[in-house]
Amino acid sequence: MYILLNEYQLTEENIKLRFLACSLVRDFARAYFPDSTVKPFGSSVNTFGKLGSDVDMFLDFHDTGKHATKMKKGPFEMEYQMKRLPSERLATQRILSVIGDCLDNFGPGCVNVQKILNARCPLVKFAHQPTGFQCDLSVSNSIAIRSSELLYIYGCLDSRVRALVFTIRCWARVHGLTNSAPGTWITNFSLTMMVMFFLQRRSPPIIPTLDQLKELADEKDKHIIGGYDCSFVSDLRKIKPTKNTETLEVLLGEFFEYFGNFDFRKNSINLRKGKEVNKPESSPLYIWNPFEQDLNISKNVNQPQLEKFVAMARESAWILQKEDKTQQIINKEPWGLASLLIPLGKSNSSKMKNRMKGIGSETIRSLLDSLKLNNANSQQKAVGK
Ligand code: UTP
Ligand code: MG
Repeated sequence: MYILLNEYQLTEENIKLRFLACSLVRDFARAYFPDSTVKPFGSSVNTFGKLGSDVDMFLDFHDTGKHATKMKKGPFEMEYQMKRLPSERLATQRILSVIGDCLDNFGPGCVNVQKILNARCPLVKFAHQPTGFQCDLSVSNSIAIRSSELLYIYGCLDSRVRALVFTIRCWARVHGLTNSAPGTWITNFSLTMMVMFFLQRRSPPIIPTLDQLKELADEKDKHIIGGYDCSFVSDLRKIKPTKNTETLEVLLGEFFEYFGNFDFRKNSINLRKGKEVNKPESSPLYIWNPFEQDLNISKNVNQPQLEKFVAMARESAWILQKEDKTQQIINKEPWGLASLLIPLGKSNSSKMKNRMKGIGSETIRSLLDSLKLNNANSQQKAVGK
């Protein structure tokens, strides 16, 4: 699992390129809004980014007041007449619309520009050819940024957190439970929240609940955004390390066991409380937005997709428990985690070649090879890292 993490996590260069893509958009935005800036959020900066993840970026007008303030302090009181728009949403749509057009017409290397302005969170999607990034540009959404900060903190608390998330994300991708196109499947963000919830439910818990992080917050950590309390501690030293010593191998099996048997019909996932709560409405999968508590972050997931997830989790738990590893090793077949990274339903040993063909990604194929070659010794070294 640590090998997977090392192979897939963003490299320093890749993170720098993501910031570079943001600065390109910033230069365009500044043609219209001189004090604006563009910053990355989401998995590019929350430590859960995987090579190939999109670049979520937001336009920030935080500093736009600067000039106006300076002018007022001068010898003349100048009054600016501001353009008035009936709503903030309309302003957001218009801003994104002009910047989208600008990127489309003049953005070097920017292709497939799509304006998705009627979404709950309006955005402009485009591909940046020189870096190969798929980019999503939105206007500053303070709550989404707080979610990124929260995940960043969780990712720093214990080395098992990111390794487990990366493994579950790879597993979900291999089995078609997630997809880079929008649809009725579980998003990586929802999946990451499910892993966090599972880690809160361990005994003893591996990470604290959001309410516990809020209790540790001091004055400077206080954030009330749109009436929602988004406060949580930022000083990691205030958070007591967990006493939980479960291995990643155990946690992986337990994750599948837990969600394979979770009562999704009745219960929802609430990271603030760190416990299962009755579902407030009938969506198949209900994961409370950690801050906007009236929103379900997995509202898009339909019943068949949820059932597929549950079936795959059960089958994976079963494979990890029941597999006759000795036989698999003698037959030189993948076992344990490696066998979970191959599409299931083709596990007959005589179909080994087909199984290898079925692996979508070249990287997973070479990973499996390296897992096969590496003996227990080298795996231990990786865990030591
Ligand atoms: P993404 O869907 O791009 O997720 O949303 P991600 O975490 O970056 O994961 P990948 O790697 O692209 O698949 C970007 C960010 O938007 C916020 C979260 O902060 C998320 O990290 N977000 C997304 C929400 O706050 N609520 C949502 O329902 C979805
Ligand atoms: Mg993203």
